[in-house]
Amino acid sequence: MDDPPVSVREGGMIKDGYNEKLDELKKLSLHGKDWIAELQQQERERTGIKSLKVGYNSVFGYYIEVTKANLSQVPPDYIRKQTTANGERFYTPALKEKEMMILSADEKKMALEFELFNEINSLIAARSKELQATAAALGELDVVATLAEVAVNNRYVRPEVNGSCSILIRDGRHPVVERSLTGFVPNDTHMDCEENQFLLITGPNMAGKSTYMRQTALIVIMAQIGSFVPASYASVGLVDRIFTRVGAFDDLASGQSTFMIEMVELANILNNATPKSLVLLDEIGRGTSTYDGYSIAKAVVEFIHNKDRVGVRSLFATHYHQLTALEGALRRMKNYHIAVKEEGNDLVFLRKIVPGATDRSYGIHVARLAGVPLKVTQRAREILKDVEDGSAIGRGKDSSRYTQLMLFGSEDAKESPVVEELKSLNVDAMTPLEALNALAALKKKAAGR
Ligand SMILES: Nc1ncnc2c1ncn2[C@@H]1O[C@H](COP(=O)(O)OP(=O)(O)O)[C@@H](O)[C@H]1O
Ligand SMILES: [Mg+2]
Repeated sequence: MDDPPVSVREGGMIKDGYNEKLDELKKLSLHGKDWIAELQQQERERTGIKSLKVGYNSVFGYYIEVTKANLSQVPPDYIRKQTTANGERFYTPALKEKEMMILSADEKKMALEFELFNEINSLIAARSKELQATAAALGELDVVATLAEVAVNNRYVRPEVNGSCSILIRDGRHPVVERSLTGFVPNDTHMDCEENQFLLITGPNMAGKSTYMRQTALIVIMAQIGSFVPASYASVGLVDRIFTRVGAFDDLASGQSTFMIEMVELANILNNATPKSLVLLDEIGRGTSTYDGYSIAKAVVEFIHNKDRVGVRSLFATHYHQLTALEGALRRMKNYHIAVKEEGNDLVFLRKIVPGATDRSYGIHVARLAGVPLKVTQRAREILKDVEDGSAIGRGKDSSRYTQLMLFGSEDAKESPVVEELKSLNVDAMTPLEALNALAALKKKAAGR
């Protein structure tokens, strides 16, 4: 492909070989310019004037310039044209002739080129309908062929699309995220309009909640546009619209606060989602204070679950793990969480979505993972404990009713005898020496374990 000229007035929009006459004119002007470029060298040799220059300006045309000091060496066939501050400008009959040829060729070339250009334009305009139809057909072919190529390269399957209410996906993947990392963990999705209409997804930051929700929506969209989908099986009950409220990025430049935007988008979703829609709400209420946010999130869960008395198929990711307590009260809601494994103070992300709720948000673990100093995260743990003990939205009294997070061993480990003994010490009643002895004994015990 050739680059088009910057502007039509500069010329250069007609390709060589399209029009013989134009090609000839181009050659003529090019040839003339070459001749002039060589002239400077020739004239320097002929006259012995080393500073001799051949130049061009739009008023006087081409000229040979000789400085004052060298005027005595000017040959007799030079004709004076113009006097400048530093010397004289001349021309020769041969230079004049070439100049005429170049200028007229240039002029003719431009005129012809523009004429041809207009001619082509009207040819195109006359067939615009056919051309547009061809372009549209090619565009469609491109889309279909690309989807086919992507499907083959990435092991997609042909989904079933039907009029039911259920969305069943086995081993679903996120088509983009899976390309950017190795070891993407596939996940299932089971939604319907009965008990699995509203999936509340909890799990620590970075667990994969957003990815999971988006992959579900993407698979639905891909299925409905006729594409194969990244899964091992998918059956999609038609969706009329997909509504999303995702992410909490600051958009101060546009003059609206993050939270305002969040609420504007939320309002649109709540007002317009139908029982045939699919709604994705990612961390709603995050943009405001904890209590506000929690209250809004909870009210939204209830509203969508009950909308039009039948509810809307929804995926709802939240860091307010207290919302999982709604599962009993809302018939069509199910708790899910993304499994993590706690190893000591570390957190291992398993990326697997499993039924049931988390009862912790693991924010402090994640902070630790990210390298926040131990002093800060330890202090945060203390503060968290205080807050939860005295807070209405702290860990609910009834959280034990709900499925505990999949923790492997660490949670039910028995308290160490060292700690038990430590707790039983009455420090106030001890002398410093007794305290020191007790400490030494405890240390021995701890080391012996
Ligand atoms: N199924 C998965 N398999 C492997 N990696 C994943 C998976 N889902 C998410 N991730 C990784 O985890 C990161 C965080 O995921 P994200 O969905 O943003 O988490 P969350 O919304 O829970 O904070 C992603 O950028 C991706 O690298
Ligand atoms: Mg997220």
